[in-house]
Amino acid sequence: VNQSHSQENLPTDYLSKEFHKGRREAFRNLMPANSVAVIFSYPERVFSNDMNYKFHQNPDLYYLSGYKEPDAVLLIFKENQGTGETYNEVFFVRERDAKKEIWTGRRLGIEGTKSQLGFTAVYNGKDFKDFPINFKKFDKIIYEKIPTDLNANQSGFDLFGLLQSFKTKAGITTNDNTSLELFADITNSLREIKTPEEMELMRKTVKLSCIAHNEVMKAVGPDMSENEAEGIHTYIHKRYGAEGEGYNPIVGAGANGCILHYEENNSTKIDNQLLLMDVGSEYHGYSADVTRTIPANGKFTEEQKAIYQLVYDAQEAVFKICKEGTPLIDLNATAKEVLAKGLIKLGIITDPKDVKIYYPHSCSHFLGLDVHDKLTFKGPQSALKENMVITVEPGIYIPAGSKCDKKWWNIGVRIEDDIAIKKDSYENLSADSPRKWDEIEKLAAQKSTFNDMKFPKI
Ligand code: GLY
Ligand code: MN
Ligand code: MN
Repeated sequence: VNQSHSQENLPTDYLSKEFHKGRREAFRNLMPANSVAVIFSYPERVFSNDMNYKFHQNPDLYYLSGYKEPDAVLLIFKENQGTGETYNEVFFVRERDAKKEIWTGRRLGIEGTKSQLGFTAVYNGKDFKDFPINFKKFDKIIYEKIPTDLNANQSGFDLFGLLQSFKTKAGITTNDNTSLELFADITNSLREIKTPEEMELMRKTVKLSCIAHNEVMKAVGPDMSENEAEGIHTYIHKRYGAEGEGYNPIVGAGANGCILHYEENNSTKIDNQLLLMDVGSEYHGYSADVTRTIPANGKFTEEQKAIYQLVYDAQEAVFKICKEGTPLIDLNATAKEVLAKGLIKLGIITDPKDVKIYYPHSCSHFLGLDVHDKLTFKGPQSALKENMVITVEPGIYIPAGSKCDKKWWNIGVRIEDDIAIKKDSYENLSADSPRKWDEIEKLAAQKSTFNDMKFPKI
């Protein structure tokens, strides 16, 4: 190991190796008898010519191992394997390579995976092909959907090579749906309930995202571009140690705020419009998902305020039922009912069914390592449980040309908060960023450090 390449000054609050080991134990407990689970890293993807997108690990593999590099596969066995020195998990990881590490960064390798992540049976990826394992002796092989759009790189031992070896060894030609469902059932049921260690990271990722939202509320003005507003979010996320964002930020003014997953963020002037900002950080893998909608000039118009207050009321109504035992389907039903009544009252619709014209999405999803996190949805009996984390995000979007009075056009409002479920109530993890219209106006009137920053003209 080249000591000059050992890394210093790393964050100290990553998930512990004991956490990941505990998650593997919990996973194993849910596996059927005589089964093996096979979990691959995510593929690397091309950004441009010989540049890849920044690598993002498969959240399931990260959850079960803490490993953050590509070209790896983890095997978890229900029962101990081998004779003599037995094992119940084997990890094949990226081989260390002094030359490559100079170009593309450090690798944990076998020794690092053992010492830092706490595995004992660790091999290089190239050893998977000939590793003596008879997949056919298992009653069940549990795996995630195998991507079919990968190409081999020169090594032959990248993800493509690992997948080829797995398919050959296990005799798999097409994805087996019962295996995929079993994998999803197990990982979803684990990941939908956050452990105390995870909850700490959830609190942190959401809290720092709120700080970013608040700063942008202060900094933003009609002359700012959508992109610059996004940049302030990103700056603050990174300042607090986040890796980046958990999803592509949505920062849309006026008409752009009426596009649900608007990601261009390229309008050069926010102008005197509403600015919808759906931006959340990724902190040590965990995503926040927070939306605030603010008037760029600091004051809501009467129409903007009416729609904003309606969305706020819908959110409050959903908060009230956030506790263990509430059926998941009640969340959106509640939001929809409040929004429909309000839109009728404002004269925007007459038939409650038409609420879906202006509220086309749903109110909640789970949140965690994925922004749209894993959940086990088994119909009406699926209910909230303690230590789930969900979003509550009603919205109303009225693009120009809508069949209502013109005065409502180009108003798009979403308010999105992240909620941890408790036995009899909830904790709003995003309570640090104001939601009430008058509190937003008050905060927007404050000055931001970003207003004093001067840069050369080009
Ligand atoms: N940011 C995506 C969503 O709110 O679901
Ligand atoms: Mn969102
Ligand atoms: Mn969301």
